[in-house]
Order: sequence, then C-alpha cells, then structure tokens
Amino acid sequence: MELVIATNNKDKLREIKNIIGEKFDKIYSLKDLGIDIDIEETGSTFEENALIKARTICQFTNLPSLGDDSGLSVNALDGAPGVYSARYAGEPCDYNNNINKLLSELEGKKDRTAKFTTVAAIVFPGGKFITAEGAAEGEITLERCGTYGFGYDPVFYSYDLKKTFAQATEEEKNMVSHRGRAIRNLLEKLKEEIR
Ligand code: IMP
Repeated sequence: MELVIATNNKDKLREIKNIIGEKFDKIYSLKDLGIDIDIEETGSTFEENALIKARTICQFTNLPSLGDDSGLSVNALDGAPGVYSARYAGEPCDYNNNINKLLSELEGKKDRTAKFTTVAAIVFPGGKFITAEGAAEGEITLERCGTYGFGYDPVFYSYDLKKTFAQATEEEKNMVSHRGRAIRNLLEKLKEEIR
C-alpha cells in the first residue's frame, strides 16, 4: 500500500516517517507530489482537523492519506492552547513566541500539568477512514531545557522520560510521544482493517 503524509510541517513529517518505518510500499510527502496547499484547520477537535487534512489530500491524490492533528492541553489554562497550539501567539506559527506566551500565562500558577494529544487519521479513496489517538502526560517547565525536537518540546517535561522532549533523542521521544502512540494505534487498526 502507498501512503501520502498530509502535512507541510517538516518536523512532524520526519517524526511520522520514522514512527511508521518500513511498513508501506511507498510513503510520499506533499513536496514529493508537488502539492503546495495550506489546509485550513477549521475543526474544533483534533479528530475533525486530522480528518480534514487527510480527506483533502486523499481527494487531491486519490491515494490513502494520513493526517495528524496535535496540541498541548494545559490544565491550569482550562485545556489551552489545545487545538489552537500552532497559532497560540498568532499567525504564522512561531514556536518561540508560542513558548513565551505559554510561560507568561503560567507565571505564578502552581499546577503546571499538561498533556500532548495527537489524533491520526487515514482516509482511503472512496471515503472510508480510520482514526486513532495517543497522549503523553507531563508538566510545563519554568524555562526552556534541551535543543532537540520542535514546538513546545523545550518546555514539556515528560513523565515517561523524566526529561523534556527537547532533551530526548527523536527515537526516545517517538517511543512515548503522543504522535508515536497515535500512529502505532492507527497502524494496529489498519492491520485489523485489511486482515
Ligand atoms: P498541528 O497538529 O499542525 O495543528 O500543530 C500543532 C502545534 O502543536 C504545532 O505547531 C506545535 O507547536 C505543537 N506540537 C504538536 N506536536 C508537538 C510535539 O511533538 N512537540 C512539540 N510541540 C508540538
């Protein structure tokens, strides 16, 4: 089976490809197929947005397409930034400004617990789809720690790894991350689907 990864985010693309490994005959990025579109995330849930991305690219390419939507939900901020994680400090997405805003919103708050969530979806030509979720629990640190990863990784202390995602190698992060878990769950469902 061939698969298109429906993202323009090169950080996510790299992680997704490494998590999936060698399980497909061919994996295409949007760039590989010469597709240059900005898909608007108009959904109000991770699942809706993952499906919007996967459906749009499936209709475009007529190939099974994988979309992922992720975000960071902080308990003391009533779940924000959540589905708005990419544009928390405004558009276009700026990782550094997003972290600055998050740290300033959390100033003086005792509870810094947070959760990353990913919903991954594959949409097939004809419209059938499967979705799966993954989560990673942790806390927002007081300052940036580590240089690996992307997005909020420098301030997300993972309870699984006992360090921030930005202090972990990509391999370590993928073992416990929201995206790693969501995609592995999705691949399990896919196996059952095509059995
Ligand atoms: P989206 O899934 O493209 O809407 O992106 C969500 C946003 O959440 C990204 O722009 C990042 O800021 C953040 N994000 C998603 N996954 C991760 C991650 O694995 N580490 C750090 N930040 C992430």
